[in-house]
Amino acid sequence: MHYRVLGACAAALGAFLPVVAAECNRTYLESYANDYISTYENGKIADLKRAENFTYVENNKTTEFSGGIFDKSLVVAWKKTIVDPVECASFVEFITTKDSKGAAAPYVIGSQIRHSPGDLSTYLIDSIVSTTGSWLFNSTKTLEYATQENWTRIDDDKLDSREALKLAADAYLDMWNNKSAVDAVPWGNPCSRLEGSVYTGTSCKVGIPTNNNQAPNSHRRYVIDQAYGSISVLCIFEHLSNAPDSHEFRMENGKLRYIHTITIAKSGFLEVEEPAPVPVAGRRARRGGASSRLLG
Ligand SMILES: *[C@@H]1O[C@H](CO)[C@@H](O)[C@H](O)[C@H]1NC(C)=O
Ligand SMILES: *[C@@H]1O[C@H](CO)[C@@H](O)[C@H](O)[C@H]1NC(C)=O
Ligand SMILES: *[C@@H]1O[C@H](CO)[C@@H](O)[C@H](O)[C@H]1NC(C)=O
Ligand SMILES: *[C@@H]1O[C@H](CO)[C@@H](O)[C@H](O)[C@H]1NC(C)=O
Ligand SMILES: *[C@@H]1O[C@H](CO)[C@@H](O)[C@H](O)[C@H]1NC(C)=O
Ligand SMILES: *[C@@H]1O[C@H](CO)[C@@H](O)[C@H](O)[C@H]1NC(C)=O
Repeated sequence: MHYRVLGACAAALGAFLPVVAAECNRTYLESYANDYISTYENGKIADLKRAENFTYVENNKTTEFSGGIFDKSLVVAWKKTIVDPVECASFVEFITTKDSKGAAAPYVIGSQIRHSPGDLSTYLIDSIVSTTGSWLFNSTKTLEYATQENWTRIDDDKLDSREALKLAADAYLDMWNNKSAVDAVPWGNPCSRLEGSVYTGTSCKVGIPTNNNQAPNSHRRYVIDQAYGSISVLCIFEHLSNAPDSHEFRMENGKLRYIHTITIAKSGFLEVEEPAPVPVAGRRARRGGASSRLLG
């Protein structure tokens, strides 16, 4: 009887509680993401279903969703997709080194895809497209490192919360302008950062900013996938000449395990665009960069 009474109570309460929005269909978002990646190979971009108000943003600028990179008939050598069923979005990261004729066509691309919760129509693709000349760019090397990593699904009993994922990513991206942020990052051991094509090995602390008074990493857009312990953040690295940037984090058991960065800034831009700081003990002086100070 008690159960009955409780049940009736809960039902009555339910009428006044906000309805929890249904999650978006993971299978659909995943298959859409795969179709999207395929358009870079088969050029069938016109076939990709989109909402009437669809917008394509590339490196933080609204632009045409046709031509250019979509006509290159790339060979996708490696790809990875995460899905955010709550936000009805996905994030794909993929790597190419050549096109279908075998000519060099090096790209590392990260795209967030956003769908309407109702009809799942796609209204935004927000891409960071890096190629030769981008920060620490070498897609052959990025491919070598990425293929060695393990971003498989996390066991159901070991899932980290969406909040934990977001706190970790935000703390990391706050390090440039917040001195306390470094202690709020749940550093894993090991943890490996793939910054462009440069691998930090077993520590993600390599080259983190020591100057915490820089311009912030702003305009952050998130895609969070609890099942894969992953969070994608696209943002603007204001301290790096407003560079469009993608950071993706993988968390295992509450600690960061992997970080991937794609940054649209000229490698070595300090030498070109700013007076170089005074060299220290034979090394070129360096300052906080895309994720860090890996490059002089
Ligand atoms: C989810 O999407 C897949 C692929 O489009 C479809 O086959 C499946 O029926 C959908 N599931 C639901 C519950 O709508
Ligand atoms: C496009 O329309 C959808 C609803 O269909 C809405 O959720 C979304 O915010 C709109 N997108 C833009 C970029 O205006
Ligand atoms: C990119 O890395 C590959 C593999 O390490 C190397 O063979 C190649 O010379 C590099 N390319 C450039 C342009 O540095
Ligand atoms: C990959 O990681 C998962 C979860 O962290 C682990 O269960 C699995 O054994 C790993 N696979 C390999 C091939 O290392
Ligand atoms: C700096 O980071 C710490 C740790 O994440 C946080 O508690 C604090 O609110 C941040 N300060 C500002 C001004 O954002
Ligand atoms: C990036 O895009 C946002 C939204 O359109 C805009 O407000 C911002 O000024 C852009 N930032 C840069 C550095 O282009």
